[in-house]
Amino acid sequence: MTIVCTVLFTCALAFSSVEANCRSQPSTCWDTGLEFPPTNESCYDGTDLCRCGETTADCSSNPDSLTFIPDLNRSYKYLNFSNNNVTSISDADFFVNVSRDVEIIDLHSNGLTYIAEGVFQGLPNLTGLFLGGSNHLTYTNLPSLLSVPGLLNLSIRCQSLGPIPLDSFQGVHHTELVGLDLSWNHLGSLNMSVFQPLQNLTYITLWKNEINELSTAYMPSWENVNMKANRLYDFLRTCSEQGHSLFPNLTVLSLDQNMIQCIDDPVCLPSLRNLSLRYNHFEYFATNTFSAARFPVLQDLEIMQMENKIRAMSPAFINNSAVTHINFLWNNVDFSQGYVHGDIFQGCTGVRGLNLGENIFLDVSEKQFHRLLKPMEASLNILSLARTQLTHISSKMLSRLRNLTELYLYANSLSSIPDGAFDKLHGLWKLILDDNNIQTISESTFSPKLRKGLKEVDLGAKTYQCDCNILWFQNWMKTQPILFKDYHSRGYICSNVDNVTIPEFALNPQACILGSGAATLTIGIACILLIFLVILVVFFRFRWHVRLWLYEVCRGRRRRSRVSRGCKYDVFVSYAEEDAVWVQEELLPVLEGEWGLTLCVHHRDFRPGKHIVDNISDCVSDSERVILVFSPHFARSEWCQFELKYCQSFVMERDDVMVLVALQETQSRDMTGAMLAVLRTTTYIEWDEEQDARQSFWGRLHLALDDTEEVQVV
Ligand SMILES: *[C@@H]1O[C@H](CO)[C@@H](O)[C@H](O)[C@H]1NC(C)=O
Ligand SMILES: *[C@@H]1O[C@H](CO)[C@@H](O)[C@H](O)[C@H]1NC(C)=O
Ligand SMILES: *[C@@H]1O[C@H](CO)[C@@H](O)[C@H](O)[C@H]1NC(C)=O
Ligand SMILES: *[C@@H]1O[C@H](CO)[C@@H](O)[C@H](O)[C@H]1NC(C)=O
Ligand SMILES: *[C@@H]1O[C@H](CO)[C@@H](O)[C@H](O)[C@H]1NC(C)=O
Ligand SMILES: *[C@@H]1O[C@H](CO)[C@@H](O)[C@H](O)[C@H]1NC(C)=O
Ligand SMILES: *[C@@H]1O[C@H](CO)[C@@H](O)[C@H](O)[C@H]1NC(C)=O
Ligand SMILES: *[C@@H]1O[C@H](CO)[C@@H](O)[C@H](O)[C@H]1NC(C)=O
Ligand SMILES: *[C@@H]1O[C@H](CO)[C@@H](O)[C@H](O)[C@H]1NC(C)=O
Ligand SMILES: *[C@@H]1O[C@H](CO)[C@@H](O)[C@H](O)[C@H]1NC(C)=O
Ligand SMILES: *[C@@H]1O[C@H](CO)[C@@H](O)[C@H](O)[C@H]1NC(C)=O
Ligand SMILES: *[C@@H]1O[C@H](CO)[C@@H](O)[C@H](O)[C@H]1NC(C)=O
Repeated sequence: MTIVCTVLFTCALAFSSVEANCRSQPSTCWDTGLEFPPTNESCYDGTDLCRCGETTADCSSNPDSLTFIPDLNRSYKYLNFSNNNVTSISDADFFVNVSRDVEIIDLHSNGLTYIAEGVFQGLPNLTGLFLGGSNHLTYTNLPSLLSVPGLLNLSIRCQSLGPIPLDSFQGVHHTELVGLDLSWNHLGSLNMSVFQPLQNLTYITLWKNEINELSTAYMPSWENVNMKANRLYDFLRTCSEQGHSLFPNLTVLSLDQNMIQCIDDPVCLPSLRNLSLRYNHFEYFATNTFSAARFPVLQDLEIMQMENKIRAMSPAFINNSAVTHINFLWNNVDFSQGYVHGDIFQGCTGVRGLNLGENIFLDVSEKQFHRLLKPMEASLNILSLARTQLTHISSKMLSRLRNLTELYLYANSLSSIPDGAFDKLHGLWKLILDDNNIQTISESTFSPKLRKGLKEVDLGAKTYQCDCNILWFQNWMKTQPILFKDYHSRGYICSNVDNVTIPEFALNPQACILGSGAATLTIGIACILLIFLVILVVFFRFRWHVRLWLYEVCRGRRRRSRVSRGCKYDVFVSYAEEDAVWVQEELLPVLEGEWGLTLCVHHRDFRPGKHIVDNISDCVSDSERVILVFSPHFARSEWCQFELKYCQSFVMERDDVMVLVALQETQSRDMTGAMLAVLRTTTYIEWDEEQDARQSFWGRLHLALDDTEEVQVV
């Protein structure tokens, strides 16, 4: 109960104060379209009744106290005396206190019922007078007001004046009036010839007057006519009986919010540049409705938001190369359907701005699209396809619009942008694509050249997949925040991460190596390296086997049958005294013990008493083969060198006799000439303690001594 009372009380308070000021009228009733420069000090008797600025005196909103205009003892251009309680101005001295410099007076909402003739006489600079809002003036006041010398603009809105009597302005002479605003006055029917006495009238505003009967007349001075929100069923009759224009100077005509369905009659508007027909009832757009023959200089055409369903659009319904801007917003026309001819824009070769937003492009094919816009391909600067249910665009769709600078595709259902979709649009600087279902933007989406030209971009969406692929886009946003304006607040939102926008999204860049293309390359290289490494390790592990195998292969080619010479020994071993242990412990057990060869080793087989040289020569000539055990000791041993030289000369006669075994690395500077010579022509077999190396050594040695067929390799 208390609450209800409080609410009622508050309402009553609010209502009473509103009523005092505006008496429940819509705010348009006192909208002057102007705003006087600001005030900064009170300027009347130390009270707050009037506030002044450099050029403004504002004594408005004192309905209890101000019934006269006070003397502010200063000069000003703008006087706001609205919302006071001056119900009648009959005293010829009423404006005597007003600065003679005053140019515009706002007197709206004073409850004015009467204004005597001649009261403005003393204000030579007065050009504008606003008398709208809750005043109660009648046509009887008009002639005196219109005759105010020098008055250019007069606004009398919301006075319920009713239909204009035909003789209303008969007594008006020498008016200089340029602008007359009679909006919200229930004019009903109107015979324009009543305005003919107002010879300089240029701007006429007859907005919201329920005009349903209109007869036009010759109005050569009219340039700008606003007849919005009336009840016109037909377009104005603009041609005289003789076919001349009734409005030869009319450049701007607004007939928004009427009920016009078509323009059948001939049209004579040779100067009309802007025609606005928003919110009318067009159902059929016939060929040549807005043609150059009817509207030779028409530039801006507003045919948006028709109240009825549009049923047919014929080819070349505009057919006017002068038209530069077409606003066809919000007509719910499905451009894929048969009732829209493919060539509706035929002849529109000069269009620079086209708004087709809030129509339906869901099923429009690329071919249909190209045909539709073909006439304006070269000229179009600005294109809007916002809210047209577009689900995809192809990379070729827009590429023909060479002159495009601004593109609006917001509030569609695009889930991706094909790479390079806009790259052919070299002049593009504004791209508004927000409120789609775009999931990611990658570096290839826009070419670097396009990105350089862009000055304003909106790609805001709630559908971004925030992962490694988004990092490039995030970086773009961060490095060029100006390009993305304040769109941060509007939201580039990650759909897969709670409550996070793209600029906030954080991810360790290393975590992304697995994702991108560059990363794939890295992995590839790593794999190859790994495989290489494995091969290397395996090779190293089995290097001796490989050597043996290679040896076998090479050796195999050279193998030839050897005729046994029936020697006493199979092998003569030439070695230095220091290497005797190796011969004793390694070589003999294998060659004699396992392979069953007979070796001639000097510490065992040289005959005592016989000269050593004879021993050597006997042994060598009695052996099938000679094994030379190379080592630094071998190089230093005189006898070894002798044996070597002897063998060398012996080998001259017999081929394939010598087998070199290198026990230790021997530097070439330590070697004798003979050793070097034999090394150059004969491959040697290295000894190594390692298990594998040993195996390889024995395998190779066995091959070198190959012809002993019966020997088994261990
Ligand atoms: C005059 O004052 C009223 C009330 O303060 C205000 O609404 C109106 O806009 C002012 N007029 C102009 C032309 O500034
Ligand atoms: C108001 O503005 C005028 C002109 O700009 C200046 O001369 C005057 O001192 C100002 N008054 C106040 C109270 O600031
Ligand atoms: C306005 O003035 C009239 C008399 O001229 C008076 O009767 C009325 O009460 C006044 N209105 C206000 C709100 O002061
Ligand atoms: C002129 O202003 C003075 C003082 O501000 C005032 O007393 C007088 O009534 C005003 N004159 C008229 C005709 O309003
Ligand atoms: C008006 O202003 C002038 C100076 O600007 C001053 O000399 C004069 O006394 C003022 N008159 C009144 C009545 O305040
Ligand atoms: C009126 O306007 C003219 C030109 O704009 C200017 O020279 C003059 O001082 C103004 N004031 C009066 C009182 O004429
Ligand atoms: C008269 O009104 C028109 C339309 O509102 C405006 O464009 C023009 O500037 C005004 N002229 C003057 C002198 O205030
Ligand atoms: C109409 O305006 C022109 C200048 O624009 C002026 O010369 C002429 O006197 C005006 N006509 C009337 C009737 O005031
Ligand atoms: C409009 O007024 C003119 C002149 O007053 C008159 O000749 C004409 O017949 C009127 N038109 C209509 C439709 O009443
Ligand atoms: C029509 O406009 C032209 C140029 O704007 C002007 O010269 C001519 O006087 C105007 N005609 C009338 C009747 O105002
Ligand atoms: C392209 O647009 C510019 C304005 O941005 C315009 O001047 C030019 O004429 C247009 N090109 C064509 C072929 O219409
Ligand atoms: C998202 O963040 C805002 C403020 O940063 C917070 O108020 C809101 O509760 C968060 N919503 C979720 C779902 O975390």
